[in-house]
Amino acid sequence: MATKIITYDELKANGSKQSIWLLIHGKVYNVTKFLDEHPGGDEVILAEAGKDATEAFEDVGHSDEARSLLTDMLVGEFEKDGELKVKSATKSASSSAAVNTAVQQGSNLMYFVPLGLLGAYFAWRYYSSGSV
Ligand code: HEM
Repeated sequence: MATKIITYDELKANGSKQSIWLLIHGKVYNVTKFLDEHPGGDEVILAEAGKDATEAFEDVGHSDEARSLLTDMLVGEFEKDGELKVKSATKSASSSAAVNTAVQQGSNLMYFVPLGLLGAYFAWRYYSSGSV
């Protein structure tokens, strides 16, 4: 049986309590009926409805049993070059910008450490020469 390809628009269209689809590891699942049975509650699933829930799903560290439940809810595979990939690309771009800021802040600190050591050295010389 050929796997159904789910588009980004289809995924987004199933983001309400009446019909909830989740994208997890490139596959789309219909979790509408599972909502009331979820041991982690319905709110966490509703928050991810119609979106890529891979990160949220993995952050919890779901058991193998939880993973095996997914097979019954499979709708199809997510389109390969979907918009979510574009979204994650912009996400990584912004996080590398954050790294740049962190590096900049780090290099500011790099000036103070040697300056502080130099100051300490001269203070030590001043005091030790005065006491002789
Ligand atoms: C269709 C997808 C999902 C399935 C089949 C599923 C299934 C389960 C199962 C069976 C458990 C019990 C513990 C375990 O066996 O790991 C559980 C717990 C939990 N799930 Fe999910 N889950 C899904 C999606 C999500 C999502 C998207 C979130 C979002 C954050 C989430 C959050 C949690 C939390 C917080 C718990 C822990 C509850 C507790 O220990 O009190 N789950 N889930």
